[in-house]
Amino acid sequence: MDSKLLMTKAQEARKRSYSPYSHFRVGAALLCKNGKIYTGCNVENASYSPCNCAERTAIFKAVSEGDSEFEAIAIIGGKEGETAPFCAPCGVCRQVIAEFCDKDFKIILGNEEKFSEHTLDELLPFAFGKQDL
Ligand code: THU
Repeated sequence: MDSKLLMTKAQEARKRSYSPYSHFRVGAALLCKNGKIYTGCNVENASYSPCNCAERTAIFKAVSEGDSEFEAIAIIGGKEGETAPFCAPCGVCRQVIAEFCDKDFKIILGNEEKFSEHTLDELLPFAFGKQDL
């Protein structure tokens, strides 16, 4: 897995962020176990609650195209005109990731210059999931 390449793809997707309300632009790149990469950006709405995060955009794109086995995701974000050193996924996105991914799924956070790798288990310990139902 090439974390740097995945972060570059996330940065490209970030350019397409539709965030006229928060002015916080996020991009994500999701690597499937079959090698395919799906990207996503955050898409906001005047009614606020329908806003979709970059991570979920990428995951929903993949699932809707028939891919649901994932290895890693890179996430990059920050205020318009800036790149934050670190943009952690929100709780809802962590839960959506947990629906499809193993505990050792890699979450790459940071930017193209500096990033760190985390596991889903680190970011969402004691997750509630389909195994509990
Ligand atoms: N956002 C994401 O897309 N991903 C994250 O990891 C954090 C937050 C979006 C949601 C909203 O459009 C904007 O960033 C501000 O919260």
